[in-house]
Amino acid sequence: MVTDKPEEIEPTYIWDVPTRLFHWGLMCVVATSLIAGEFGYMDIHVISGHVVLALIVFRLAWGVFGGKHARFSDFIKGPKTVLAYAKRLISGDAPAHRGHNPMGALSVVGVLAVLIVKVTTGLFANDDILTEGPLAAEVSKSTSDYLTYIHYQSGYVLYGLIGLHLAAVLFYTIKGHPIILAMISGKMHGLPENDAIDSPSPKKKLHGSWIAAIIFAGIASAIAYAIKTY
Ligand code: HEM
Ligand code: HEM
Repeated sequence: MVTDKPEEIEPTYIWDVPTRLFHWGLMCVVATSLIAGEFGYMDIHVISGHVVLALIVFRLAWGVFGGKHARFSDFIKGPKTVLAYAKRLISGDAPAHRGHNPMGALSVVGVLAVLIVKVTTGLFANDDILTEGPLAAEVSKSTSDYLTYIHYQSGYVLYGLIGLHLAAVLFYTIKGHPIILAMISGKMHGLPENDAIDSPSPKKKLHGSWIAAIIFAGIASAIAYAIKTY
């Protein structure tokens, strides 16, 4: 007799392991890059900057082929959805979301975009003394100086976005959504069991593929290493 076994679902599981490792790893290396850059520890700065590069390359691939809620298609929404969510947030009845909510997604994209600018301009930057990015010699001195200027100025945007990110995390935590815990354990408690917009997914889809994660991590590290030693 053939029985259709329903796919196993995990009602509270959201963040796959690679996304969580990416997040906490990114937090550490971005903080290191900022502190080392501000205080002039340039050897450390350039190394941590290249780790940021590797993590971003990994995340771009994982955003297409990763676990369900890590995929850009899962959380990047159109202006209508963002506005509708903002209205519910203002009126105090914003629902708990599986994955990034439509507004949180904007800040995720913003942080990733400004980090892409930081890393790209850093590769061509120079400090007029000892340190330059591995690709600085490929452009004229004036272009390198201009990209150094962007590298420096985009820091303000990054500080602003990190501030906003931490304020949002604090806001949701105070509102009783344990989102920090979810980024640690992968599980989000207090979610509706079966919301029409936002229902739980099969286990396989939520976790993503380990093999893909390892391959992407290897490729991302190789790209960052090749650029660093160019
Ligand atoms: C330099 C500091 C940080 C950076 C650059 C950063 C960056 C990010 C990024 C890019 C994401 C999206 C994750 C993804 O989908 O891949 C994210 C999500 C998240 N971050 Fe951070 N983060 C930082 C610090 C922190 C800290 C200190 C905390 C908590 C104490 C935190 C808590 C979270 C949480 C809870 C989420 C998930 C938000 C949600 O539920 O939608 N982050 N962060
Ligand atoms: C491949 C990666 C990177 C390279 C090669 C690189 C290179 C450089 C260089 C050559 C400088 C010196 C510029 C100057 O003194 O005028 C610099 C400064 C700086 N970079 Fe980077 N960078 C990289 C990534 C990053 C990242 C990811 C961040 C932040 C998350 C960052 C933040 C800073 C900061 C805060 C400074 C100090 C600006 C100042 O006050 O002069 N960099 N970087």
